[in-house]
Amino acid sequence: MSKILFTPGPTNVPEEIRQVLGQDLIHHRMADYHQLLKEINEDLKVVFDTNNDVLILTSSGTGSMESTIVNLFSTNDEVLVINTGWFGERFIEICQVYGLQVHELRYEWGKTYNVVDVQEMLEKHPAIKGIFVTYHETATGVVNNLEQLGNLTKNTDRLLIADCISGMIVQQFHLDEWGVDCAVASSQKGFLLPPGLSFVALSNKAKEAVEHSNIPKYYWDYRKYLNYFYNKAEQPFTPAISIVVALQAALRQLLAKGLPQIIEDKQSIRKYAEDKFKELGFTLFIEDESIRGNVLVPVIVPKDIDGSKLTALIDERYDFTVAGGMGIYAGRMLRVGIIGEITEREIDLLIEYIKEVLPECKK
Ligand SMILES: Cc1ncc(COP(=O)(O)O)c(C=O)c1O
Repeated sequence: MSKILFTPGPTNVPEEIRQVLGQDLIHHRMADYHQLLKEINEDLKVVFDTNNDVLILTSSGTGSMESTIVNLFSTNDEVLVINTGWFGERFIEICQVYGLQVHELRYEWGKTYNVVDVQEMLEKHPAIKGIFVTYHETATGVVNNLEQLGNLTKNTDRLLIADCISGMIVQQFHLDEWGVDCAVASSQKGFLLPPGLSFVALSNKAKEAVEHSNIPKYYWDYRKYLNYFYNKAEQPFTPAISIVVALQAALRQLLAKGLPQIIEDKQSIRKYAEDKFKELGFTLFIEDESIRGNVLVPVIVPKDIDGSKLTALIDERYDFTVAGGMGIYAGRMLRVGIIGEITEREIDLLIEYIKEVLPECKK
């Protein structure tokens, strides 16, 4: 059974990539894997737009988020978390688990941060060592401006850590130019791969910070990943080899198409879907178009409609899967993921199916 996933990750994996995933394994301590890892690293550097090497962890996105905290900070360090939704909240929880002192700037869902608040927070708490922010907040569809934050941290000792798990590939990103010190991303989003790999890009400032962290770590220790890569072109622990092999194919495809083209296509699909949902009587969740991302289209269902029933019926009857709202928006929002190979045709079909089941979803 195959389903079309209108979800903000995992997405459908293109047929050519699935074929690569099904290939027999190669061994991760041998020359062919070394060559593969070196080539992938060069492509990942293009994706993150950085001159530094990019680490590949075997983990879901949350593991890579945790890795940033245990590698870059020490117990009791003061940090600022810009919380614009579900995944901003997660950074707070992980920081607290490791005994960091968290200052929080919390914003209403559907809104971005205010840079003046950030400046004031940094002035009031000069000991803040790092700022955590979610690039694309998958619970709301909001894109937070990283460049603006990079301008506040660039020529200071402070680190800027960005969760780019859903935003990478479909939003533009420039690690070095924007002054982001650590960015994490995951395979199951714009990379069009199954879940299982995460990527970590580090600035020189971040690499320096790794040397001073006192938080205990073993599996996540960036020093191990850096040393293994430099000395052997390997990873310290058995990687998800099949996904690494498929990553090369995926990166080649994405880069052949060109990241600017991908972003343009996604923008156009986003606008197309927005218009269709408006025609259907749904309300766009994010008022300010300049902060709408290309990962998903968040729409509020009409008041008399049960959104949970709608997503369940679509999933059961048509083999189309659409994500619902998170947190207080559960049952009230659809998050129509567009990072997969979604075209206007799929959007039209989805709208048609929604129209068919809508009368049954009346409260
Ligand atoms: C922005 C963002 N951060 C973190 C995560 C968590 O990633 P995972 O579920 O792979 O651990 C997700 C997953 O949807 C995400 O979209």
